[in-house]
Amino acid sequence: MNVKMPQLTPVSRSDDQILDQTLRPRSFDDYVGQEKIKENIRIILGAARKRKEPAEHLLLHGPSGLGKTTLAYLIAKELGTSLKITSGTALEKAGDVGSILTSLGDGDVLFIDEVHRLNRAVEEVIYPAMENFKLDIIIGKGIAAKTLQIDLPRFTLVAATTKISLLSAPFRSRFGIDFRLDFYDENDVEKIISRSAMLLGVEIDKKAVGVIASASRFTPRVANRLLKRVRDYAQIKDMQSVTAIVAKEALGMLEIDSCGLENTDRKILKAIAVNFDGGPVGLKSVAAAIAEEEGTIEEVYEPYLMRIGFLARTSKGRIITTAGCRHLGIEPKNETLFS
Ligand SMILES: Nc1ncnc2c1ncn2[C@@H]1O[C@H](COP(=O)(O)OP(=O)(O)O)[C@@H](O)[C@H]1O
Ligand SMILES: [Mg+2]
Repeated sequence: MNVKMPQLTPVSRSDDQILDQTLRPRSFDDYVGQEKIKENIRIILGAARKRKEPAEHLLLHGPSGLGKTTLAYLIAKELGTSLKITSGTALEKAGDVGSILTSLGDGDVLFIDEVHRLNRAVEEVIYPAMENFKLDIIIGKGIAAKTLQIDLPRFTLVAATTKISLLSAPFRSRFGIDFRLDFYDENDVEKIISRSAMLLGVEIDKKAVGVIASASRFTPRVANRLLKRVRDYAQIKDMQSVTAIVAKEALGMLEIDSCGLENTDRKILKAIAVNFDGGPVGLKSVAAAIAEEEGTIEEVYEPYLMRIGFLARTSKGRIITTAGCRHLGIEPKNETLFS
């Protein structure tokens, strides 16, 4: 597979991105869990190959770090085509999409990350491109304006989003199928940690893998990040291998508790419990109370807090649950709210 990174993509090489790249599964066999999705994707790709047609456009959604970008890589690899990567924030104008679409080869995969951030003007260029591989170009302005239609290569769009609710219905309907990636079970997270440890050359015992897994928020990216931090800690302490004790110490240093909660998670819960009497409270107020961005709270922290049943969203706003209060060591104020 040949991966072309177009200029349009902002490439910042943070430590996390480098880690993502190093540990990214290279084949479907390395891609742990999500069995149903893998099976469905393989059927879709196999059928497309048989018909010698481009595969249907696919939409991947779910919280960050669960393997959406990795799937895009694997799809292109399985199809034996090139992958072009861009994101909803990079495609600002109709012309941006035009230049990327015309640069594709026949059968290529175009991956648009954070697709919910595409603006209307860009979406409108994408519709005909997705439907019949045509690009409408408007030349001139006002009454002299003319539309020119050009043929595009037959490509497959793979789009990813953490916020499916922000996609318009017409846009969503243009995908052949959408897949919701779910949190991983602890067994799968353990497998991912063991595989990553092998790739990074980290000696780690089974119990330590378990300790890291239980603090990993059921999320592969978090698991890999914690493994790396634990490895760094073990190195500083001159330990040859990572044991459960070392792993616990390292997580303690990072202020990550046994449920995988970080400081910010606890701040969110505490703000709801203490400042807002347990809720319901709007996202804006929570964000203001802890000086964190609304989007970050909603996309990064809340999905996991809801998953473990510490926080719930109601029509009136966020509430902390009884379990959430107990975890903080706070007595729930109004039992009726928390049921
Ligand atoms: N199913 C999986 N098996 C093994 N590792 C995975 C899996 N899903 C994700 N990862 C790891 O987690 C990292 C983040 O995955 P990524 O595809 O970038 O997530 P997303 O795009 O959903 O935020 C990857 O680099 C990879 O190392
Ligand atoms: Mg991604």
